[in-house]
This record gives sequence, C-alpha cells and structure tokens, in this order.
Amino acid sequence: MNETPWLTYMPSHATSATRPAVGEAPAVIDLPAPDLRSGVPLMTALSFRTSTREFSPRALSLATLGELLWAADGINRPLSGGRTAPSPHALQEIDIYVALPLGVYRYDSPKHQLVLKHAVDARGMTGYQDFVGAAPLDLVYVVRGSRVLDMPAAQQAMFSAVTAGSIAQNVSLYCASAGLATVVRGWINHRLLGDALRLNEDETPILAQTVGLPADADGTHNK
Ligand SMILES: Cc1cc2nc3c(=O)[nH]c(=O)nc-3n(C[C@H](O)[C@H](O)[C@H](O)COP(=O)(O)O)c2cc1C
Repeated sequence: MNETPWLTYMPSHATSATRPAVGEAPAVIDLPAPDLRSGVPLMTALSFRTSTREFSPRALSLATLGELLWAADGINRPLSGGRTAPSPHALQEIDIYVALPLGVYRYDSPKHQLVLKHAVDARGMTGYQDFVGAAPLDLVYVVRGSRVLDMPAAQQAMFSAVTAGSIAQNVSLYCASAGLATVVRGWINHRLLGDALRLNEDETPILAQTVGLPADADGTHNK
C-alpha cells in the first residue's frame, strides 16, 4: 500500500513586525456586487481545486475582491441574512480579516464592505512561509468567542473550525473557478497575529488563506 508522504512546509524568515501601509487606507471600502453568472461550472471548479504556493505580486481588482469575499461568506439570502457558508445555529461566529498592502480590514457581510481595522501591512504576520507577505492578499479567519459562549465548551472549538473550513472551501472553489491561486494555512502564530490584527480578548485567529494570481498568470481572470 502506498503511504502518502507527510508534506513539510518550507519556512521563511518569520516576520515579527508589520510594515507601513502602502498607500492611503480608506475607512470603508464598498465592494462591487458579485456577478452570479461568472465562473466555470461547479464540477469543473472542483476538478481545478488545488493548493498553490507561488503567487504573482500583482494586486487583485476590487471586483475580484468583492466576488471572492461574497463567495467566502457573503449574504446569499437577504431576507434571512443567510450566508454562503453554514455556521452552527447560524451564529456566524467567524469574522474574515483581509490583510492587504494598504491595511487590515474586516469583511462586513451584511453591508458587503471592508471596514478598516488597522492601517498597516500585516500580510507578513499571517504565517511563516516565503510567499506570505509577498502575495497580494491574506485572509485570516477569526473566531468571535462571544458568539459561541452558549455552546458546550467541547463544541466551541470544533464547530468554529468547521465553519472556518467551510468558508475556506468556498474561497478555494471561487479561486478554482476564477483562475486564482490559493492555499489554506493552519501554520500561524496566533498571538502575534492577534496583536497585528488588533483583535479583542475574545477573538482568536484559527486559519489563514493566501490568495493571488498564479505566478505565471497573464491576468485575464482579474476583472
Ligand atoms: C487545516 C489545514 C491546514 C493547512 N495548513 C497549511 C499550511 O500552514 N501551509 C501550507 O502551505 N499548506 C497548508 N495546508 C494545505 C495542505 O498542505 C494541502 O491541502 C495538502 O497538501 C493537499 O494538497 P491539495 O490541497 O493541493 O490537494 C493546510 C490544509 C488544511 C486543510
């Protein structure tokens, strides 16, 4: 029987400081509505899904960012506030932090906006691998502990991880559909990242995901 080799992730020199923001960071960024007819069929996207660790440094367009975040955990049922990703009892306990060169933002799903948290470039703080901080976007999935307090303690961490995993898979499938490169990352420094993102005591980063154009992209998918 073949044994699957244990994949070791190549570390870079760990960054322990944020970098100055590149450009002026608006307090709020309105995201364009997604084009619900865009992309390839689901089965084709599934056939493309893969982890990629080589990225072009080129920025993603605002249209791409809007579609990516809507796919991640946007509102798909406005009447009920339902989202593209499931969550236990619809608690929606995962916040998506968006580390861009111009600052760290939180995705506000109901308003489909990015809300500025901290005007620094914290991309390099979201992990240890060489592409982290060089790719144009790092997402960080943060559990808002106050939302899961009523849940039995044993379920809090597990259910939150499942919600974050659902969001990450939505992002992966959007990337596969839109010709973007992505990798989910569990190898993060929770404390450093919590400081860099200016999180409160009850907020814990549990997963990160790098997104960008593939290193060899011609950019045709970047709307
Ligand atoms: C929970 C989780 C954590 C992961 N953490 C990392 C990570 O820190 N760094 C990394 O490069 N890949 C990470 N990966 C990606 C896996 O290495 C990858 O999915 C696996 O090698 C299978 O490859 P594939 O996604 O291309 O099928 C993670 C995946 C999952 C689901």
